[in-house]
Amino acid sequence: MGKGQEERTAIVTGAARRLGAAIAETLHRRGLNVLIHCRGSVRDAEERVAALNNERPGSAALAVADLGDDEAPGRIVSAALEAFGRVDVLVNNASGFYPTPLDRAGPADWDALVDSNQRGPFWLSLAAARAMADRPGRGTDHDRSGAIVNLVDIHGMVPLAGHAIYSQAKAGLIMQTRALAKDLAPRVRVNAVAPGSILWPEGEDSPTAEVAAQRLERVPLGRQGTPDDIAGAVAFLALDAPYVTGQVLAVDGGRTLSM
Ligand SMILES: NC(=O)c1ccc[n+]([C@@H]2O[C@H](COP(=O)([O-])OP(=O)(O)OC[C@H]3O[C@@H](n4cnc5c(N)ncnc54)[C@H](OP(=O)(O)O)[C@@H]3O)[C@@H](O)[C@H]2O)c1
Repeated sequence: MGKGQEERTAIVTGAARRLGAAIAETLHRRGLNVLIHCRGSVRDAEERVAALNNERPGSAALAVADLGDDEAPGRIVSAALEAFGRVDVLVNNASGFYPTPLDRAGPADWDALVDSNQRGPFWLSLAAARAMADRPGRGTDHDRSGAIVNLVDIHGMVPLAGHAIYSQAKAGLIMQTRALAKDLAPRVRVNAVAPGSILWPEGEDSPTAEVAAQRLERVPLGRQGTPDDIAGAVAFLALDAPYVTGQVLAVDGGRTLSM
């Protein structure tokens, strides 16, 4: 067995910044090697890889790919195998998010939002599942399955106004979670985390204090969620839930109780 092959490995897509970065750091703290994937945020991703390797030499590597590219899944999985020799966990976190008003949306918006939120995750999951099947000394006696965790959205269940393409892409990713959980069992568990409002989208004006307060009134737990709330749920499904598959865990402070 080559260097590091006894250590479990996670691939986290879109992990240069924001929620993906928190997920990669949490899995790394749990002792996994991490392959950080990014598309355009290469400098941020390189800094993150360097910081993780500083903590534990040889524990982080980088793959740059656009999930709209048919070659991307093979390239991402190959990069993980080259760096660490095995794949145990895949977190499909990368996502395009922007409004698509019906009078302005076009096929290019469909491609951009479906490629990153539904199509890319599907082919990457299949490529990762093949690598998981070949793992040396697979998992522990208790959890011999590989794990896929998809980042969906509470708006994959209840549509977000003005975001018809994004909402249906996430709805597709929810069904993908359930379908692959069935088809990849027992070798791979497939689950999803559905965040509520955690980080405001970049490039959009932050809500006014009044709008932010109105939003919080609809959240029973009375606060905005944090990246660590999401990362903890991902780590639970990936590492601590050996008898759970096909589930969608809303991490939304209870927001969906009254949607
Ligand atoms: N933030 C929230 O409050 C919230 C709420 C509900 C659901 N979620 C879900 O949680 C996940 C993380 O949220 P976030 O706000 O941290 O995400 P984000 O910042 O909007 O996006 C994460 C990364 O996705 C990558 N990406 C986008 N399109 C891509 C493509 N075609 N190919 C490859 N990479 C692509 C980008 O990488 P580069 O920068 O490298 O280009 C981006 O940095 C997402 O799946 C999101 O839908 C988040």
